Parts: sequence; structure tokens; C-alpha cells
Amino acid sequence: MSEIATLKINGQEFEFPLLKGTEKETAIDIKTLRGATGGLITLDAGYKNTGSCKSAVTFLDGEKGILRYRGYAIEDLAEKSDFLETSYLLIFGELPTEAQLEQFQADIQSESLVDEEMKKILHGFPKSAHPMGVVSALTSSLIAFNPESVNVDSEEEMYKAIVKIMAKFPVLAAWTLRKKEGLPLEYGSKSLGYVENLYKMMFNKPNEEFAINPIVLNALDKLLILHADHEQNCSTSTVRIVGSSHAGLYASISAGISALWGPLHGGANQAVIEMLEDIKNDGGDYHKYIAKAKDKSDPFRLMGFGHRVYKNFDPRAKIIQVAAEEVLADLGIVDPVLDIAKGLAEVALNDTYFKTRNLYPNVDFYSGIIYRALGIPVEMFTVMFAIGRLPGWIAQWKEMRENNEPIGRPRQLYVGENLRSFSSRENR
Ligand code: SDX
Repeated sequence: MSEIATLKINGQEFEFPLLKGTEKETAIDIKTLRGATGGLITLDAGYKNTGSCKSAVTFLDGEKGILRYRGYAIEDLAEKSDFLETSYLLIFGELPTEAQLEQFQADIQSESLVDEEMKKILHGFPKSAHPMGVVSALTSSLIAFNPESVNVDSEEEMYKAIVKIMAKFPVLAAWTLRKKEGLPLEYGSKSLGYVENLYKMMFNKPNEEFAINPIVLNALDKLLILHADHEQNCSTSTVRIVGSSHAGLYASISAGISALWGPLHGGANQAVIEMLEDIKNDGGDYHKYIAKAKDKSDPFRLMGFGHRVYKNFDPRAKIIQVAAEEVLADLGIVDPVLDIAKGLAEVALNDTYFKTRNLYPNVDFYSGIIYRALGIPVEMFTVMFAIGRLPGWIAQWKEMRENNEPIGRPRQLYVGENLRSFSSRENR
């Protein structure tokens, strides 16, 4: 392939360099387009064909169903790593030594207290508030109690801000659940690992000895690894663009949480279970719902199906489906919703409408079945996604700042009114 792309307009030719990625992906570098052509811009609703940055964090190939964090296959990380180690890999670029991981864990544990005043903000929310709205607000509120986390110009300041949010976010998420359930807002224990501590903070009852089933711990750790990063998805792009104005890490993550909340994005894991429950309560006839999903006059979509990038199986969905079967079997849980999900996927995967549009189950299709088996309430599913995605957001934000990316400010194609003269109100 040549090293340049040529654009021919009105008899004039304009050349633009072709950039090659590590995995031989190719991009047309159009940074000179508007200047060279006297004002020409591109238009690409939803950025389906547009790259926003160069990144070394995550590689995915949607056609082949490949996902790698810092070059390591998701299948290997899900099987052999743990969530804190994978978080370190995403944020700092290399798998940690034993000493590095111990130091990271110790630094996180040393920051795992949240100012008691934060409880007043939490208690200002009604119990009915959706946890994603609460967690986004609490994350933004962290800035007030950690003002030094905003201007992270030095490596040390950046590290401190990272360790603080890694430590405090799980506390905020757990307290959000406990408030909804009328439980006292408690901490876990420094003697526990990152994910075990999260589970204790979420579920420990003040009058019981805490014990976590290793099957539950392993499943939760694996789910968090699988959600840890996914290149330039909607919420990560939000974290990057907010950070590109030099707003702090916590403000950027708070915005990312709000983007993740949407049912077309991370909110899909809650929407999937609600859809499967609807199908179950409607007699279990998923064929009817597949017909609805195909009916253009019906706004219903098959939640947990389809993906902007994966036009093949989402590798995470494959891993989660196997884990869902294992966890339910190990815990002796029979969940009719899993059978409905499997039956629905089977029919959809053989249906022309879905096949011609390359619609496959995505990460959200089976994850809710495991969360439910682990005793996590459905409204907390997307918060669990956010806990998993936190290291990915941090890694991408850190990369954007270290690369001194310019402030994100897209152009537009104006389709409004031409110049008009102002008419006074009595003449309108
Ligand atoms: C996540 O980007 C990421 O990486 C996200 C994520 C991550 O880890 O960060 O992977 C996590 O958000 C996974 C996606 C979760 N969302 C859902 O499961 C919601 C249901 N899926 C869709 O709404 C949709 O598939 C999207 C939003 C995921 C992708 O939408 P696109 O890429 O904009 O595709 P599209 O809407 O243009 O659809 C193309 C065609 C359309 O039909 P036609 O106009 O060609 O006739 O496929 C149809 C769509 O109507 N279609 C669906 C469908 N998804 C797409 N039809 C029925 N059911 C669906 N789920």
C-alpha cells in the first residue's frame, strides 16, 4: 500500500500521509485537511470511521474478535491474571513484579478511607436514586476532598491521584449499595485483596462473620478483568475529551460514569436482565422478541446484542458465557433466565437479520446472569461495569495527558438558517 492518500476535488489533488499501527491498521492523517483545502472538513456521525487518537493501551480487532490489553490476550489475562494485576498492567504498561504489585496494593490500601463528610452527600440522595447517578456525583465530589488530584503535572502527583481513585471508588460504590439496602456504611479490611475487600464492603452484615465463596470471588475478579478496558468506547472517549481540557482525573471519570450509564453502552447489562425477565414473565417466548427486534417500526432492540466494533463474537461474551454456566452449576443455582438467554442467542445467531448485520452477543449479554448469581442487585450491574472499567479509564486518561493531546473540539456541518435580521416582538 502506498504511503499517501490522494483526495481529488474539483480537479485539484491533495495528498495526506497514511499512518500504520502496530497491528498494520492504517489511518489517513487529515490534520492538514482544512488548511490545505481552504476549509474542507470530514463528517462522520458517531465517529464510525474516525480515529480520535493513537493509543498503546488496548488493541481490538472487531472482525476477528481479538482483544488485548497492552499486548496480552484477554483470554490469558482472564484465566491467569487477577484484577489488580491487570489494572497495574493497563495503567503502567507492564505486568508488575511481585514487589511492584505489593507496593501498588499497599499504596491503595493506605488511601482507602473516604472523608466522613462524603456520607452527608450520599445521604442527600433518596434511596430510589439510580446507583450510577449517585456514584457519578460522589466521584465528582471527591475533588472537593482531594483538590491536589486536579493539577497532576508531575508523575508523583499523577500516581497519587490514581491510587486514591483506585482506593476510594470501590468504597463509594459499596456505600451506594449499602445506603439503598439500609445497611450501615462500613469499610472492608486492609487484610483482604482488592476484589475480596470490595465484596466485603458491598455485602458484609454487621452482625455476621464475613466469608466469601471462592467461586464467587473468582467469578467477580474475572468479570472485572473482562470489563477493564476497551479502547475508544463511548465512556472512555468521554473521559479523554473531558481530560483534554485539563479538567482533573476525577471530573473526567465522573463524566465517563455518566456516559457508561446509557442503555446503549454499559447500561445494557441491566437492560439485558430486564429484557430476559420480561420474556420469562411473558411466557418465555423469545421468538416474539426477536421479531420485535427485527421490526423497524418497533424501537425495541435485543439488548446485549450488536457492537460498534465487533462484527464477530465479542471474545468477552464467550468467556462470560462459560463462566456463567460454571458459576450457576458450582453455586447450585438454576436460573431460567440463562436458558432463555441461550435459546434467544441460538435463534438470533441463525437469523438472517442478525447475521447480515453481524450482530452477536456482546459483553453485556451474559454478565448480568453472573452478577445476579453473585447476589448483586440489577441496579448495581452498571456500577460493577464502572468498577471494572476504572483502570482502563485511568490508563487512557494518563496516556492522553502524557501525550499532551490537544483539547478535543470537533468541527460541524452547519445546516441552520442563513443570516436574518432581528424583528421586534410586536412584529412577530
Ligand atoms: C458496550 O464501544 C464499546 O466498546 C462498548 C463496550 C465496552 O466494553 O466499552 O463494548 C460495552 O457498550 C457493549 C454494547 C452494549 N449495548 C447493547 O447491547 C445495546 C444493543 N445494541 C445496540 O443498540 C447497538 O448494537 C450498539 C449501540 C451496540 C451499536 O450500534 P451501532 O454500531 O451504531 O450500530 P447501528 O445502531 O448503526 O446498527 C446497525 C444495524 C441497524 O439496522 P439497519 O439500520 O442496518 O437496518 O443493526 C441494527 C440497527 O437497527 N441493530 C440492532 C441491534 N443493534 C444494531 N437491531 C436489533 N437489536 C440490536 N441490538
